[in-house]
Amino acid sequence: MPTERKSIHGQWSSRFVFILAATGSAVGLGNIWKFPYIAGENGGGAFVLVYLLCIAVIGIPIMMAEVLIGRRGRQSPINTMRTLAYEENASRHWRLLGWAGVVGGFLILSYYSVIAGWALAYVFRAGSGLFTGLTADGVQSIFSNLVNEPERLLAWHTIFMVMTMVVVARGVQSGLETAVRLLMPALFVLLLLLVGYAWNSGSFHQGLDFLFQPDFSKITANGVLIAMGHAFFTLSLGMGAIMVYGSYLPDNASIAKTAIAVSVMDTLVALLAGMAIFPIVFANGLEPAVGPGLIFQTLPIAFGHMDGGAFFGMLFFILLVFAAWTSAISLIEPAVAWMVENLGMTRIFAAVLAGLITWLAGLLTVFSFNIWSEVKPLSLIPVFAESTIFDLLDYLTANIMLPLGGLLIAVFAAWKMKRESSVDELAMGDGFFYWLWRFLVRYITPVAVAIVFLNAIGII
Ligand code: PHE
Repeated sequence: MPTERKSIHGQWSSRFVFILAATGSAVGLGNIWKFPYIAGENGGGAFVLVYLLCIAVIGIPIMMAEVLIGRRGRQSPINTMRTLAYEENASRHWRLLGWAGVVGGFLILSYYSVIAGWALAYVFRAGSGLFTGLTADGVQSIFSNLVNEPERLLAWHTIFMVMTMVVVARGVQSGLETAVRLLMPALFVLLLLLVGYAWNSGSFHQGLDFLFQPDFSKITANGVLIAMGHAFFTLSLGMGAIMVYGSYLPDNASIAKTAIAVSVMDTLVALLAGMAIFPIVFANGLEPAVGPGLIFQTLPIAFGHMDGGAFFGMLFFILLVFAAWTSAISLIEPAVAWMVENLGMTRIFAAVLAGLITWLAGLLTVFSFNIWSEVKPLSLIPVFAESTIFDLLDYLTANIMLPLGGLLIAVFAAWKMKRESSVDELAMGDGFFYWLWRFLVRYITPVAVAIVFLNAIGII
């Protein structure tokens, strides 16, 4: 018995549009900026393998759980959790899971927007031909000049937040749908072009080996936690983004197929980004472990040396901005939907208010790269000895809040919801695939997340 509920915020026009929107949310800075640099910092191959494993056995089942909960509740994650907890006779505290997601979304967007600002800045740097003929040193100094100046970062962060708020204020409109439809394939083609360049860089094999040859001596317990956290981050799981998108999903769409399609596309983009970047790293004698600046210090070298590099470089960063944009709106949508539902605000007002709060929090990240770059708040704890405020925000959200949120979503979907409810909403029958999904969400996910956590904090 599907519920009769309708979302007051409207609905995607088809399953295909939902796939586009969810892919738009999933594919973002996480794939092109974050994945390569954390793979670089954590030794490559073994890290990548753990990450892929997490996508397959934890990510896809949890994505299904989130969509299923969202579509059944058809409200913002906070109200969805409240309604479903009531219907399933579970504790009313489950709504706190919705709240944790809203807070997580704010915190992630606060730094996400600053990094997206770097990509915006690079659109102009690439387009003006600044990278032409540059060596690795020249490219590095362009990057340091950008991040060393708080005013510049602040300006780009502000522009990106305004862009995000404009789209959120208008609601998820056909304009955005069309944009995603055209831009995602374009991004894909451009990444292939870069992989082509990397192929000829002379170090393609070294790059591939780094990415795909697991050397388990290089991975630590913390590295495994980072890989798992990134699986959540890159698929936009654990904070309600996919749940709220699921609440706009038409009734008849298959949740399993959708989740698999989104996860496969997301993973492909990340792997292509890695295959484009690491050969350039090795061909130019760079370090794979330089951290968050990695793509901004490698890809410009490629653009500076290829024919039409100014054009392709500009195009690439434009597409990266779009990828970040379609993710950013999903980070704030759970909060905005709740403000509209519960505080009686118009969408525009809610978007502006949410945007302002996020913008303010973004200052923490802006200053982490310059005037506060020596501020290491948790320096007493060995793993965090070198972590700036930005590093800590990233760690807290991606490696702690998202996996914990995902774990609770799994517990709710597989332990608290009645079996009939999930069979009914997933609509894939009650056969092997349903059994497999439920088995993974019921046992594997919670246990895996718990083990990785306890291991990383040194308890087991
Ligand atoms: N998945 C996005 C990315 O990879 C980031 C994101 C995380 C978006 C969580 C929404 C929720 O860039």
